[in-house]
Amino acid sequence: MSFNDEAVQFTNDDASCSKSFAIQRGYWNDPYILYFYKQTERKSPEISIGYYARVHSIRYLLKEFIKSVNRNCQIVSLGAGYDTTYWNLKDENLSPRSYIEVDFPNVTMKKCRAIKEQCDLLGKLQSEDDDIQLSKTEIHAFDYHLIAVDLREIKQLEQKLKACFIDKNLPTLFISECVLVYMDVDCSENLLKWIAKEFDKPAFINYEQVNMNDRFGELMITNLRQRGTELQGVRACQNLQTQVDRFEQNGWNHVECMKMIDVYRNLPQVDTQRLEKLERFDEKGLLDQLLEHYCLTWVSKGSQAFDVSEISIRNM
Ligand SMILES: C[S@@+](CC[C@H](N)C(=O)[O-])C[C@H]1O[C@@H](n2cnc3c(N)ncnc32)[C@H](O)[C@@H]1O
Repeated sequence: MSFNDEAVQFTNDDASCSKSFAIQRGYWNDPYILYFYKQTERKSPEISIGYYARVHSIRYLLKEFIKSVNRNCQIVSLGAGYDTTYWNLKDENLSPRSYIEVDFPNVTMKKCRAIKEQCDLLGKLQSEDDDIQLSKTEIHAFDYHLIAVDLREIKQLEQKLKACFIDKNLPTLFISECVLVYMDVDCSENLLKWIAKEFDKPAFINYEQVNMNDRFGELMITNLRQRGTELQGVRACQNLQTQVDRFEQNGWNHVECMKMIDVYRNLPQVDTQRLEKLERFDEKGLLDQLLEHYCLTWVSKGSQAFDVSEISIRNM
């Protein structure tokens, strides 16, 4: 494994730390994150508000997808890290037929350990005849799978998804939350092309950086580089068009893409007022800059599939 791969895995700790802090401060509710990540480090209100917008908008789109197909679908979370969506969906009676999480073995190993140790997590995995297969880095239950794969290795990904009994004819939503930017654009394009070709009714939600060639974007790249992380996929994060092109040029044909600043403006006013009053928040300019540099893309392929253009962030 390369030095950069190790640094990329560490970005999961960063994301979990920020989410954990925001949850403890009351930005949103999630009873499960602390089972995976306990240490917290103080984060500024702008960071916590940004994470709220990220988690809230992705979950909104995800739930709209699940409801639109009456839960008769699969979710594949690429680079899932310590994401807790599977457990939160259980609590809301919105579980899909199958939920599959993918990450590097070092990350899935730690996730496996936390799930094995916590009844609240393990107890919610649905099993047929109590048959849950647990290894050091993977879990296979009836409606939940955690698999260890490098997403740049498509053949291996295909084999492992097969072992999760993935059904290529079922509506399947892939999610990548701050993941594709860490791999070379050739690799993320291969992944998107493979999904579009192999799956009958695929959809995709992607959250990541945008506008990376302005001064603020360059500063983000430099700061991450100093911490050992190279944003290898930054070429696809130049602007909204490069984000859209990556999907359209690789087999997808319904693409919606929005900067997070516009997503934030679409949040109900009661929500944004509550968020901005939770802590001493006086850096509105900094929040705007942060939100200008992330975007949300939701995509589908084929008109017979779930139609993303029917889902509007404006109703969030
Ligand atoms: C910034 S973290 C985000 C974690 C989670 N999606 C979230 O938003 O909380 C990026 C995650 O993607 C994973 N990742 C990045 N490149 C990957 C690859 N080539 N194969 C598997 N996982 C990868 C990392 O290990 C890490 O867990």
